Amino acid sequence: MSSAARDFLAKLKGVLRKDFHWGYATAASQVEGAWDSDGKGLSIWDKFCHTPGKVKDGSTNEDAVRSYDLYKEDVALMKSYGVTAYRFSLSWSRIIPLGGADDSVNERGIQYYNNLIDELITNGLTPFVTLFHWDTPQELEERYGGMLNQEKYTPDFLRYARLCFERFGDRVKHWITYNEPGVYTLAGYAAGVHAPGRSSFRDRNEEGDSSTETFIVAHTEIVTHARAAKIYRDEFKTKQRGEIGITLHGNYSEPWDADDPEDITAAERARQFEIAWFADPIYGSGDYPTCMREQLGNRLPSFTDEEKMLVKGSSDFYGMNTYTTFFVKHRSEPADINDHLGNIEKLDTNNKGESRGPESGTYWLRTAPKGFGKLLRWVWNRYHVPIYMTENGTTAKGETAPTDEVLNDTFRIDFFHGYVRELAQAVQDGVDIRSYFAWTFTDNWEWAAGFSDRFGVTFVDFETREKKRYPKRSAYFLRDYIGQHLIAQD
Ligand code: NOJ
Repeated sequence: MSSAARDFLAKLKGVLRKDFHWGYATAASQVEGAWDSDGKGLSIWDKFCHTPGKVKDGSTNEDAVRSYDLYKEDVALMKSYGVTAYRFSLSWSRIIPLGGADDSVNERGIQYYNNLIDELITNGLTPFVTLFHWDTPQELEERYGGMLNQEKYTPDFLRYARLCFERFGDRVKHWITYNEPGVYTLAGYAAGVHAPGRSSFRDRNEEGDSSTETFIVAHTEIVTHARAAKIYRDEFKTKQRGEIGITLHGNYSEPWDADDPEDITAAERARQFEIAWFADPIYGSGDYPTCMREQLGNRLPSFTDEEKMLVKGSSDFYGMNTYTTFFVKHRSEPADINDHLGNIEKLDTNNKGESRGPESGTYWLRTAPKGFGKLLRWVWNRYHVPIYMTENGTTAKGETAPTDEVLNDTFRIDFFHGYVRELAQAVQDGVDIRSYFAWTFTDNWEWAAGFSDRFGVTFVDFETREKKRYPKRSAYFLRDYIGQHLIAQD
């Protein structure tokens, strides 16, 4: 047993509300497989991963973890892990293969999600459903450039959203419109390393403009999130009695030199560029942060008065995905035209040579629970809305085969222990947190990193057709720590 597993602080016992939801989060493109089965249309990720050179290990998501076929076994395994809820995303192009407002519905796609939802409910697990986890229908990208064209994209997304509320809303009471709209645009349109693969960098991408498109796409996401939420609230909420929100990414930023006022300001600016970019319009001032307008000028779109009113207050909760913390140093020279971070440098160590945390198997991710605790308080103090933790987790070095050592994943257990303890402490201090979804249930297809980055509490043998699952110890750690220790019992 790891030291973390033994250290269940008695003072935190039972601090989480009885109806606290906990479980695992996944995304359709990363787990389902069946990429072209039963009438499914292509998404931009299906296209992207079949383009040579785009995915690190050359893999595709054709089969992924085969959860499309194995959902019953997966629900049973999750149940054995003690969870109360499951967060998953719907594949838009499985439901409407071509994606558009006038395109036909694929009833077999609907049937799959009906089956999954029913299986969850039969087993006593609450579904949390994300409408969009990065997989725009490829056809919409080709027709009009996807989210770059807000006018054409809006009716298509709203028709998809309305259809989902109509077909699944009798059983789904927790809706998330977009997952990490920031990462979708930063990786897809600024860096160009995710689908649809656009940027200013011609060695990487044939088309794109990182200095403008990134902000245009973000604007489309924010406004269409708000329009979808309005439809839900106006047409469905009274009858279905659910809630709707958005999930934002955001790591914590600490000053590189804690005594340098310029680094302190730079760290706050970094938090605003990363988080308040989306959160201020939705939960705060109703507009983009001033520091962004100052740096970006007209490259940052403006909300119309109608959009502002629609966007402010459009989310019933703050969906938080977070993984790590960085040290942030100010830059003295003017910001680069393609900068999206607030003209700062992100570093792994501070001026005292202290590391931001132990290294995982993923270059950007290190274990940094203290920063997580600060992030929870920063978000709570700035916005004062209930927080749903919708993703948090880690990879670990050397997880290549299901050996006893790999399955006894103490590195991941230590990660979860540190972060969940911070969460419980924040709750004890008065922060309203209502869920914890760990990322993720099984190892899966980690986008452009392919199968190499394993975030699961279940090891998957990707070499075999069966995609055999092997539970790791962390699954049982979370069951005992959250399920048995932290959540208040009857
Ligand atoms: C956030 C994303 O929502 C998810 O799809 C991804 O796999 C994890 N981060 C880990 O990188």
